[in-house]
Parts: sequence; C-alpha cells; structure tokens
Amino acid sequence: MRSTDIFLDEQKYIFQTYARFPVLITKGKGMYVTDNEGKHYLDFLSGIAVNALGHCHPAVVNAIKNQAKKLSHTSNLYYTLPQVKLAKKLAELSGLSKSFFCNSGAEANEAAIKLARKYAKESLGAEKFEIITMHGAFHGRTLATLTATPNEKFHRGYEPLPAGFQYVNYNDIGALKKAIDGKTCAVLVEPVQGEGGVLVPAPGYLKEIRTMCDERNILLILDEVQVGMGRTGKMFAFQREGILPDILTLAKTIGAGLPLGAMLASEKVSAGFVPGSHGSTFGGGPIVCEAGLAVLEVIEKKGLLKNVSEMGSYLLSGLKKLKEKHPAIKEARGTGLICGVELEMPGKEIVSKMLRKGFLINCTNDKVLRFLPPFIVARKHIDALILALDSVLSEK
Ligand SMILES: Cc1ncc(COP(=O)(O)O)c(C=O)c1O
Repeated sequence: MRSTDIFLDEQKYIFQTYARFPVLITKGKGMYVTDNEGKHYLDFLSGIAVNALGHCHPAVVNAIKNQAKKLSHTSNLYYTLPQVKLAKKLAELSGLSKSFFCNSGAEANEAAIKLARKYAKESLGAEKFEIITMHGAFHGRTLATLTATPNEKFHRGYEPLPAGFQYVNYNDIGALKKAIDGKTCAVLVEPVQGEGGVLVPAPGYLKEIRTMCDERNILLILDEVQVGMGRTGKMFAFQREGILPDILTLAKTIGAGLPLGAMLASEKVSAGFVPGSHGSTFGGGPIVCEAGLAVLEVIEKKGLLKNVSEMGSYLLSGLKKLKEKHPAIKEARGTGLICGVELEMPGKEIVSKMLRKGFLINCTNDKVLRFLPPFIVARKHIDALILALDSVLSEK
C-alpha cells in the first residue's frame, strides 16, 4: 500500500484532530526514524519529549518483551511487583513519598488537581479549592486540565468549563502574590514552559513560589510531564532550585514510548487519597512499569544526565550562533535538551523544510521552533541539525 492511500484512509477513518505531516513512519532506531520508502530522519523531537533513550533501546525492548511473556495486565485490585518497584525508585529519586500511576500527562495532572482539592478541603478548610495556573501553560486536554491551561484556543466550544481556576503571568512573582487569597488551595506550574514556547523562568522563581506556598499554607504542584526525568540535566527540574514540591506530575520520558503517567506527592498530602478516591484500569500496568524501570536504569548507569547538560549547552550555542547570522531569529533559548528558537514569523514552513531535509523538529506557539532530542544525542547529530537549519534559513 502506498503512503498516499494510507493518508486517505486516515482522513476517512480517524478523527481529524491532528494536522499531520505527510510522512509514514514505520521504524525507529537510536536517533533515527525511517519512513515507508526507507528515508531516514534524525529525530530532534523524541516523539514530543518521549523517547529519551532514542528509539527501540535494547534495554527497553527486552524489559517489555520479558514482562509481556509473564504478565501484561491484572487489575489494580491486586499487587504487582513492577509497579511497587517503580514507585519505590521514584520516591528514592525525587524525595517525595507515594506515586499514583496513570496513562498520560493529562491524567497525571487531573489526579494532581483532584488530590490538591481533596486534601485542601479536608485538611486546610472547605473554602480552599482554587488552583492558580500560569498564562502560556499546557497541562493537558481533559476538561479540568484544559481549564488549567489558560489558552482560549483549547477552551473554545467546551464551555462551561469547571470552576476553580485562576490565571496569572508566568515568571511574575508579584502577580502570583496578588492572586493568592483565602480560596487558593494550590499553585500549578511548569518549571519550564514547553508548549508555551520553551520559556525558562528566572533563576529563583520556583524557590520564591515554594516560600510563598509555605507561608500561605498552599500546595505547590509541579508539572514535569515534559521536562521531568532528566531533560533539564537534573533528574527533576525542581532539583535545580533545591526545592521539593508537594505534588509532582510525570509522563512522556517515564514510559519510553508506552503510555505511563505518574502523580507523586509528599507523605502528608498523599493521605488525601484513600481507597476509592481515584483509580485507573490500566494505570501502572506491569509492562509499562518495567519499561519505566529500564529507562531509569539506563539514564543512571550510562550517566545520561551529564550528556543532557553537555549536549544541551552545545545545541544552544549552535542555535545562538545561527541567531547572529539570521535576522529571522528573534531569540534562541533553552536549558538542557529543551531548546527553542523564536522566529520573527510563523515556523511551520521551516519545520516542513527541515522534514524534507530529514530532520524531525516542531513549532510551538506558532513561532517557536522546538528541539527535544533524545538524551543520547551526540555532537555529530547537533552539527548536522545546525547545518540543515542554517541552509533552510538561508533560502529566500
Ligand atoms: C507540561 C505538560 N503537561 C501535560 C501534558 C499533557 O500530556 P499528555 O499529552 O500525555 O496528556 C503535556 C503534553 O505535551 C505537557 O507538555
């Protein structure tokens, strides 16, 4: 079957919720994916911040294969070893206490919102239910998480939206201070805004929020769905500021391409959930948890966080050099292996041209080219990307 026939069937049989590029990807290995005609693409997107070990890493493939032969699913009414092992590992790494497992970033945030409300209602006072989130944020597509995402584009048509959310500007401590009142139960924030255009807040921003939350008896929820598990060069982005959130959400990298999300909380706050408070049929299944354990083992054993920091700096310096040369670039920014290039014009055409040259990147917030390569990326891949981008930006 030709790819054009598949594109037609996709239009006919699949909800048209994605504006896809005309490529039929059939295989992946390491830094590369391959289409049905055998053309290779260097993956500078990792799904979207998912395949941190690259594609089909043998440790992940073996973990999945071995577990699939033993047990692929049983109800959360019973114990399974991989789920307990992964929760213990996440607690050791993060300093938080307990995990609730689900299947995506949106579900992890949904669980966080529910836990914050329930804990606050029961322990801080019935009038405390409001959650403050940031303009430019992205927290997911369920009704509560899209309400937590203050973007009219995602809200349109879905009103009435759930009550109990308030929005302030990102990276603006003064605005947050003003917004907190007797109804506030939590602040929900991304340590780096990914979908919002790769926005890295000023150093100390999270620390100031932490202090403010402590002083006002408010929970701090960090959404590390995109940057957690190593993308900033630390296992968790909050470790860059030496703080600990009350609630942390993870997905993407943690499942190595399988659907796995996690909501972690401190011992005190996790007491807000009791049997029956929340649940998921598939959350924390044995195969996805074995994949998660394999990802963590490889990140630690291969010292990949060091590579994230080193290659992140190398990538950013290459992008900054392009900025000096091309007036179309307004700013190059990022931290670790989440980098963005803000253009003076929409970036979709550049993404298409890069695709034709054999590179997967994307454009977020209309004008920001985003680079989220796997943690295994090497100098030669970055050199190739910079060369290709230079040539695309030089085209008339
Ligand atoms: C910071 C953040 N939170 C939540 C989500 C939603 O995750 P998912 O698409 O797995 O539901 C995303 C997805 O891009 C994200 O970047």
